[in-house]
Amino acid sequence: MKELLIKLKMLSIREAQLKNKRVLLRLDLNLPMKDGKLTSTFRLRAALASIRYLLARQAKIILISHLGRPQGFDKRFSLEPIILELKRHLKVPIFWTEEVLSMAVRKKAERLDNSEILVLGNLRYLPEEEANDLKFAKELASLADIYVNDAFSCSHRAHASIVGVTKFLPSYAGLRMEEEIESLDRLLTRHPKPFLMLVGGAKLKDKTDTLRNILPIAERVALGGGTANTFLKAQGEEISESLYEESLLDVAREMINHYPEKLILPVDWLVEYLPSGGFRISDVGPLTLAILEREIAHAKTIFLAGNFGISEDERFRGGTEKILRIMAKTLKRTIISGGDTVGLAEQLNLLSRFAFVSTGGGATLEFLAGKPLPGLEALKERCPYCRGAFGGKHPSFQE
Ligand code: 3PG
Ligand code: MG
Repeated sequence: MKELLIKLKMLSIREAQLKNKRVLLRLDLNLPMKDGKLTSTFRLRAALASIRYLLARQAKIILISHLGRPQGFDKRFSLEPIILELKRHLKVPIFWTEEVLSMAVRKKAERLDNSEILVLGNLRYLPEEEANDLKFAKELASLADIYVNDAFSCSHRAHASIVGVTKFLPSYAGLRMEEEIESLDRLLTRHPKPFLMLVGGAKLKDKTDTLRNILPIAERVALGGGTANTFLKAQGEEISESLYEESLLDVAREMINHYPEKLILPVDWLVEYLPSGGFRISDVGPLTLAILEREIAHAKTIFLAGNFGISEDERFRGGTEKILRIMAKTLKRTIISGGDTVGLAEQLNLLSRFAFVSTGGGATLEFLAGKPLPGLEALKERCPYCRGAFGGKHPSFQE
């Protein structure tokens, strides 16, 4: 783990002096909710390791997160339900406010005791957050002594709490961040072969770069969901009114031609008939699932990103559920990612059965596309050792 962070040129929270320090801790507590109730607490539970690590070392935590995409202050995007959940897991004082920055916030931050937590209001109440406004970032930073990014799943966003703040504070990667980078980097560089990548989800647009990067690496890439439809259409299948992306037909054709043995497309599917007389592909069919079952049995590393059916509708979750259950039964290196997929695995009580569950959706796909993530780049730039200070020697560098 240490070696990887050195390779990535980041400092780990493990290397920080934490006692009596005010730590600005960026988490991704953007949890899915329905009717004001949390539908998954996975991301919150994934963040507990870093919180507990900081508390045990007598740091004072100033916790920051966004939730959803509010346009200005909006009580519907309050972190309150999430804080109530946090309180169920931690037995330390947790103070919270709807304000992001104010005199009261500053005073509270200054008076915080060791092993106490102050949670600020939803960062996206303020437009400065998404604008990566440096003045705002500086003010946020001024509340603390050090900054920890444990929000891997937000690190593809160049926002003030992810990028801007690192300009003003010594900046470290949190424990979950380390784990995410370690697991995904391993997938790109050191996975047991054969490697089977299963890519579903609604849109191919979000995944073309990931597919371009993964196709040369993986032994097999199986497609499902809306992502597969553009390929089916490119192959000349009748897909009626199914979701597909016209502008990506050539990309799909090119991939089919270039990787005919690697790409696995659905061979049968469930359809929903529409009032118009047309139909919509809504899930993969039994023959496809049988092929995938064989491929999973054959592979040593299996990664699933995105659902294989229109899973908002319970009738069309069967395919993804079957894939998850088969994956959960193998003892091989299995990884899943994406909010809908992880949410479904959580509902089925299967989360503990995977080798790794990524908190990221977009961030995971971008990492696997080989793209630099702004949040990780910012941590790299802030690593004093890697920037040449102290003779360029990273403290944990052993040779
Ligand atoms: C997510 O859920 O994808 C992350 O929390 C980032 O949120 P965003 O997609 O609204 O930037
Ligand atoms: Mg997102």
